[in-house]
Amino acid sequence: EKGGYDHFMLKEIYEQPRSIRDCLRGRIYPQQGKVQLGGIKEYVEKLKNVDRIIIVACGTSWHAGLVGEYLIEEYARVPVEVEYASEFRYRNPIITEKDLVIAISQSGETADTMAAIELAKEKGATIFGICNVVGASIPRITHAGVYTHAGPEIGVASTKAFTAQVTVLTLIAFYIGQKRGAIKQSTLIEYLTQLDEIPTLVEQALKSNDRVKEIAEKFKNSNNCLFLGRGSSFPVALEGALKLKEISYIHAEGYPAAEMKHGPIALIDEDMPVIFIATKHSSYEKVISNIQEVKARGGQVAAIVTQGDTTVKDMADYIIEIPEVNEAFVPLVSTIPLQLLAYHIAVMRGCNVDQPRNLAKSVTVE
Ligand code: F6R
Repeated sequence: EKGGYDHFMLKEIYEQPRSIRDCLRGRIYPQQGKVQLGGIKEYVEKLKNVDRIIIVACGTSWHAGLVGEYLIEEYARVPVEVEYASEFRYRNPIITEKDLVIAISQSGETADTMAAIELAKEKGATIFGICNVVGASIPRITHAGVYTHAGPEIGVASTKAFTAQVTVLTLIAFYIGQKRGAIKQSTLIEYLTQLDEIPTLVEQALKSNDRVKEIAEKFKNSNNCLFLGRGSSFPVALEGALKLKEISYIHAEGYPAAEMKHGPIALIDEDMPVIFIATKHSSYEKVISNIQEVKARGGQVAAIVTQGDTTVKDMADYIIEIPEVNEAFVPLVSTIPLQLLAYHIAVMRGCNVDQPRNLAKSVTVE
């Protein structure tokens, strides 16, 4: 049942080219520049006029929501707020009939996420779901939604569900962007053409496995680890840190790279590995100066870079190359080596990768 892999987690990591393809199937038509989302098509008018989107989720799904915030604001130009469901529901939140609330949940059963949307529904908001388990409780109480179609996820640490959630959010961003005229048709055609290639590019990113394993060997005895990125690579850093802490029990933190100097920099010494997402995109130069700051303090740096990068290669201790992609799709590709890193470190430390201590696959109590 593990398909020849040692663990479900590894199997699910390797399934991602397929799960992303399944998630895209029947939803994008690159030549026509068309995104089709049957589950929400009755809400086109709502989407054209919506002036705020609130995303509620927990854990990894919340990280996907943060990536979604970057995508929807950039490509659809609608303001987005991303909330921990548990905080949102107890805050007497300001919600009106004009709001669109999107719940993201792999299991579709998370108690806090469910309570958050029940509350928003009472206040008259339109509720969408992005869920993986078909027919679960959350999709049953939403008005509409888009399934991720990643297939059953058995490993407690979420991997393929995360990339499928990000894929759906990308589709939603393009869909709303097109309906509102926020994205040019020619640009959309270009994006969709590359999105169609993402499963193949994820497959290439999986080829970093041996390299990642070598790095895992170097970092496996650390007590702490920092993950840094900017823009949509910031939530990817959060996700990389969460994967490492939940399955290897190494304390890890994700931060926006620029926030490092506001505190975490105090922690940096030879025993502190720092993982950067330093692909060639809008904040590349800024991330490079953050890498220099870490190196100047003796930190050990591993960086995820765009294939062929030489600048970061010269300063980092280790690099992991990923294929070049449009900025919109970096999270889908850069997440792959971080999942593998957490996996290998956990295996090397003898941890129970698929069933980490104290964790449950679906959190049905608050
Ligand atoms: C992390 C993880 C958890 C879940 C969280 C939300 O790997 O699995 O953080 O992401 O419990 O679960 P869902 O998405 O089912 O609502």
